[in-house]
Amino acid sequence: MDKIIIQGGRRLAGTVEISGAKNAVLPGFAASLLTEEEVHLHNIPKVRDVNTFCHLLASLGVMPETYGKNSCRLKHDGKTSFEADYNLVKTIRASILVLGPLLSRYGHARVSLPGGCAIGARPVDMHIEGLKRLGAAITIDHGYIEAKAKRLRGAEYSFNKTTVTGTENLLMAATLAKGRTTLKNCAVEPEIVDLAELLISMGAKIKGQGTTTIIIDGVEALKGADHTVIPDRIETGTFMIAAAITGGGITLRHCLPETLTAVIDKLRETGIEIITEEDSIEVKMNGSICPADVETLPYPAFPTDMQAQYMALMTRSNGVSVIKENIFENRFMHIAELKRMGASIEVSGRTAVIKGGTSLSGARVMATDLRASASLILAGLVAEGETVVDRIYHIDRGYEGIEKKLGLLGARIERVKS
Ligand code: UD1
Repeated sequence: MDKIIIQGGRRLAGTVEISGAKNAVLPGFAASLLTEEEVHLHNIPKVRDVNTFCHLLASLGVMPETYGKNSCRLKHDGKTSFEADYNLVKTIRASILVLGPLLSRYGHARVSLPGGCAIGARPVDMHIEGLKRLGAAITIDHGYIEAKAKRLRGAEYSFNKTTVTGTENLLMAATLAKGRTTLKNCAVEPEIVDLAELLISMGAKIKGQGTTTIIIDGVEALKGADHTVIPDRIETGTFMIAAAITGGGITLRHCLPETLTAVIDKLRETGIEIITEEDSIEVKMNGSICPADVETLPYPAFPTDMQAQYMALMTRSNGVSVIKENIFENRFMHIAELKRMGASIEVSGRTAVIKGGTSLSGARVMATDLRASASLILAGLVAEGETVVDRIYHIDRGYEGIEKKLGLLGARIERVKS
């Protein structure tokens, strides 16, 4: 298993290019199942979740073919399978996104139930309930969701909790349903808007994306499309913190500051100087980091996917801060590792109290999930001496060449292959 080794203490400077958003590419890939024509997606990040999803698509009869710098052509090869195998679904929960498209297009889908993961139970009950509302007959058998419907029919469904992939699954399913579907209490994440824009360019009739009510008028068939996915807002936020935590100054290019308002506001509150342009951000940190409390909530509030990285920053603040995690019940796995590096953090339920300013020293630490690994790398950038982050495959799921990008900004960081 690869490791990342960091010698802490370097201030970051320079320019970093932000990659495309993994969480926009995966639903975009799933949407390609809705048409027999070619879908071309651009700005695809080179991350493991994207590779895994490519294997899943190939197993379902869509052959992804990469070309150019970061483009991908998705085309049906004539064969069709309706089954998303456990071995693929267990490594990438977003595989559940194929359920709606397969069912809607072929009237049949068999998708392994994802099960829990390191950050919590993560049920998919609303995906299932919503598809039932659209007329699907669904059973759970031998760990698989078996869904059938001659043709889905439009209906009204209100999510009882905000769910990102749940909204995406039903949005995709409804595009080929007969009649009008009204989805209420939808998630409003930028990745959902991006997916809706792709679907519209495929011929879908959708209104209201980016608001809590989405209206979809089903069509008979969808066509091919050419679409560039949005930049990754979580990678953007992670690099902003990387610059600030080292007391450095960097420019982030090819990003979308308008998708990071809550993060930018919070980082400004901590004393970080941030200048935004339409597609770039300049970050500068002079002086000490002030503590600022945060709680995670669905978009447009502060994202749960930035919580672990923000906690690393708060260990360097000059006071006490409180972080509350409202989305996932078990998303504090990074705390034990940060404490091994010298952080002072007390946890009570979903709340963590961080006493900033304790000195961090390099240690051997273990990544437990994608964003937790980013948090440990950030801490390693400022820890005294050497930090070794084990189980780095977690970070490869969602960050493209993080050690290369940080290295170009002046960090002393290397990947050791084993
Ligand atoms: C997506 C993102 C993930 C992010 C999360 C929250 C993708 C591929 N992943 O995950 O990076 O951390 O949003 O912003 O886009 N829930 C239910 N029943 C359901 C569905 C969800 O109870 O049927 C609960 C979950 O357990 C969780 C909350 O709702 O507590 C939000 O989950 P959800 O928005 O669905 O997360 P994902 O779409 O899996």
